[in-house]
Amino acid sequence: MAVGIFDSGLGGLTVLDAVQKRLPDVPFVYLGDSAHAPYGVRTPDDIYNLTTAATQRLFDAGCDLVILACNTASAAALRRMQENWIPTDKRVLGVFVPLIEALTEREWGDNSPPREVAVKHVALFATPATVSSRAFQRELAFRAIGVDVEAQACGGVVDAIEDGDLILAEALVRSHVDALKRKMPLPDAALLGCTHYPLMEDIFQDALGADVKVYSQADLVAESLADYLGRRPAMIGSGKSSAFLTTGDPKQVSSRATQFLRRQITFESA
Ligand code: DGL
Repeated sequence: MAVGIFDSGLGGLTVLDAVQKRLPDVPFVYLGDSAHAPYGVRTPDDIYNLTTAATQRLFDAGCDLVILACNTASAAALRRMQENWIPTDKRVLGVFVPLIEALTEREWGDNSPPREVAVKHVALFATPATVSSRAFQRELAFRAIGVDVEAQACGGVVDAIEDGDLILAEALVRSHVDALKRKMPLPDAALLGCTHYPLMEDIFQDALGADVKVYSQADLVAESLADYLGRRPAMIGSGKSSAFLTTGDPKQVSSRATQFLRRQITFESA
């Protein structure tokens, strides 16, 4: 057994890298559904069907706990999966609650009523499907009052990253930041609500300006997972082997992953 990490493609590697550094003794099985990326332009039903199929593949690989390291899947499919699909001996966790807990200065599982927090104007950058789900705004409203959120759907960025075209990805990020600033000229914080975006974090920070605090998920999710496994160590299981699985072309995906993480990553067919 091991802990499963799922993303539509390569973006979840930003989370994998952080959780491996935080929990070096835990084996992780990564599954990237590159054959069907991007998810961000798909319908909620489509995202649900693809996410349950991928999660089942990770259960079959011996994972009792699966992290959806994909905001689009977390926003569009997780609640429905938790309501009627996940077997009682398995767990599936999403990635955006740790981000919102950090923004609203809350400890894990603090369910006290919403209250005023330091940030007032928040820019959210995410995929079109995540933005239209309004899942971030819903989770935020449970925890904070008086926060103005402006969401920018960042069409094209995930495709460009998956294709390894970082020049196009940079141009798109800058134009999405410009579009956001036309709606909210002075955000005090920005959320990178897609696990692909930390690969472009320097560009977001540069385009937003040094005064804007950029929240990105990888380290927050790693901390949250370490806390969860500290409370439920049995969810790790006893297995020792890590693996990288892809529904795409293993050779091409391995080469992009190696480029992004700057260490040798070898994917095999899922
Ligand atoms: N990394 C996924 C996310 O966090 C990308 C979604 C996509 O495939 O469009 O939303």
